[in-house]
Amino acid sequence: MKFLWGSATSAYQIEGNNTGADWWEWDRGKSGRASFFWERWEEVIDLLHHLGHNAFRMSIEWSRIFPNVQESNRDAIEKYRRIIQSLLERNIEPIITLHHFTNPIWFSKMGGWLYRENIPHFIRFVESVIPILDGVKFIITINEPNVYAFRSYMEGYWPPQEKSIRKTLRVLSSMKEAHVKAYRLLKSRTSASISIAQNMMIFEPAWTYSPIHWILTIMSDYLFNWYFPDRIGKYMDFLGINYYSRGFVRWLGNIEYRGEERNCMGWEIYPQGLYRVIKKAHARYGKPIMITENGICTDNDFQRIKFLKEHVEQVMRAREEGIPVIGYLYWSLLDNYEWAEGFEPRFGLVEVDYEKQKYRIRRSALFYSEIIETDGLAAL
Ligand code: BGC
Repeated sequence: MKFLWGSATSAYQIEGNNTGADWWEWDRGKSGRASFFWERWEEVIDLLHHLGHNAFRMSIEWSRIFPNVQESNRDAIEKYRRIIQSLLERNIEPIITLHHFTNPIWFSKMGGWLYRENIPHFIRFVESVIPILDGVKFIITINEPNVYAFRSYMEGYWPPQEKSIRKTLRVLSSMKEAHVKAYRLLKSRTSASISIAQNMMIFEPAWTYSPIHWILTIMSDYLFNWYFPDRIGKYMDFLGINYYSRGFVRWLGNIEYRGEERNCMGWEIYPQGLYRVIKKAHARYGKPIMITENGICTDNDFQRIKFLKEHVEQVMRAREEGIPVIGYLYWSLLDNYEWAEGFEPRFGLVEVDYEKQKYRIRRSALFYSEIIETDGLAAL
């Protein structure tokens, strides 16, 4: 099978007007029309085609399919069917995520992922979209359970802003159970390869001469990177990795970023880390690896070009060593709504002019097209 070269997105961050999602309620509709994907998806698919991407990761917004607990919305299902079909018609492999941080408001009101009794609601959603997954070869059940649980239940930064280790572990445990159930269901009804997208970071001790910091680093690495995928072990056909940065561990859950090169949110740019996580994940699970996200927010597009070159280089290094890396998806195709940070951070290969409501292709997008055309060689 040919290598998947493409880009990644999530529904809430690009579609606009997801009024049934808990994030909409929480930030009072700050995401607004987002990157207009819900209205302008055809144009976006034209862009993908024009840029030569052969894969596109997108998510299905649960709250559009189930705006209320009782019944599903046929129009929304039909629209997602058309989007997926038109990707397939253009020979762009759709990589479909089923949960990317947002929940329907009604689900959150029930206590969301804190209660395993709520899992059947998620499974009912998965079941209702199976008919439109015809021809889809890759499905991601849940995006970054580690980041979701940490941000929302431990750090208290994202809704519902809880700070509890006990709740964090409960959420992870329900998500694990939901993943396994969804995996089994999808395996019995589709021929897709299924996984999660796991955010992986490189951790180093903040003080190398302090034994306690070495221990904290090993613990951070285990809890953040491996705790969840270890638990779903045999229920993944490949492993999706989202890689962004390296953190120096000061305490559990407290890291600092170092280094000269940073993205617009202060995260260190550390390309070798991508090779290191690929290598470790492959040694641990022996499964094919897909880079389901890797990207930079910056106002300097030359920095994005450099980022792409240096990160793809690391992917090529792993491929050359014979590690089965099956794809690389840049985050993100479009500038979009970066959660609590809003619209300021620009991750896109394509600039979104929110005022004039226009898409503009950046130079980095053209450089990435060259990478795709040469199957990675343009980055070396
Ligand atoms: C998430 C994306 C987010 C990106 C950049 C990932 O953790 O999956 O939704 O936009 O990081 O912060």
